[in-house]
Amino acid sequence: MKTPEGRLLECRALSAGYGPVAVVHDVDLHVEAGEVVALIGPNGAGKTTTLLTLAGELPTIAGEVLFRGRVTKAPLFRRARDGMGFVTEERSVFMALTAEENLRVAGVSRADAVELFPELEALMGRTAGLLSGGEQQMLTLARAVARAPKLLLVDELSLGLAPVIVKRLLQTVRRVASDRSTGILLVEQHVRQALHIADRVYVMQRGRIVMSGTGQEVHGRIDEIEATYLSGPREESTDQPPTR
Ligand SMILES: Nc1ncnc2c1ncn2[C@@H]1O[C@H](COP(=O)(O)OP(=O)(O)O)[C@@H](O)[C@H]1O
Ligand SMILES: [Mg+2]
Repeated sequence: MKTPEGRLLECRALSAGYGPVAVVHDVDLHVEAGEVVALIGPNGAGKTTTLLTLAGELPTIAGEVLFRGRVTKAPLFRRARDGMGFVTEERSVFMALTAEENLRVAGVSRADAVELFPELEALMGRTAGLLSGGEQQMLTLARAVARAPKLLLVDELSLGLAPVIVKRLLQTVRRVASDRSTGILLVEQHVRQALHIADRVYVMQRGRIVMSGTGQEVHGRIDEIEATYLSGPREESTDQPPTR
C-alpha cells in the first residue's frame, strides 16, 4: 500500500465553484502514478469545475488539494512547473499556425509528437485549422504529453469525434500512463470506451461523487449506471395521463 503522502494527486472534502456558491461538494478522489482514472457524469455534474479546481484555476471553497503529497494552493503555472499538465475542455490549438508551429510555441519537439502519433508526421506543415477535429486533438495530446507531465488532467478530449478516433486517442492515453508512469485523470463522455482503458472510475452527479470502483466493476454495471446517473439532470415530468 502506498502511503497518502506518496499519492500523485489527491483531494479531500473538496468543495468548489464560481464565487461563494459551491457547485462541487465534498469530493474525495485520488490519482496514483501510472493510473488512468476516469471521471464521468452527465452534463453539468461538475466534472470541469473539479478539474479546474485541481489545476489551481479555481479556488477551493472548502477542503484541500494535495499534489505530489503536499497541500497546494498554487496557481496552474506553478503546478505546471511541478509536473501538472492540463488539457482543457476549450480547444487550445492555434488554428492559424501550422501543426509544427503549434508544437514549437509550446516548446515541444516534432520528434516527441511524432513518437506519440506517427500520423502527425505528414501533417506538420498544415495549418491547424485545416486539420480534422481528431488530428487537432492528437496535436493537443501530443503537445501535453511531450512536456513529460507527472500528472495529466484531460477534459473531454474526444468530444464530438468519430468512434475510431476516440479509440485511438484513449488508447494513447492508456499507453502514456502505462509506459511513462504518468497519472491521468480523464473526463470523458464516451463512457464505455473510457471504462475500457480506466483503472478506476468516479461517477459524479449534481456536484458529488456518487459511486466509484475499478474500470471493470463499473463496466459490469454500465447499463444500471447509465440509467441511474448518466442520463442528465432529470426534467420535471410534464407527462399527462393519456386522454384516450
Ligand atoms: N463560469 C461559470 N460560472 C457559474 N457557474 C458555472 C460556470 N461554469 C459552470 N457553471 C455551473 O457549474 C455546474 C457544473 O458545471 P461543469 O463543471 O461545467 O459540469 P460538467 O463539466 O460536468 O458538464 C453547472 O451547474 C454549471 O452551470
Ligand atoms: Mg465539462
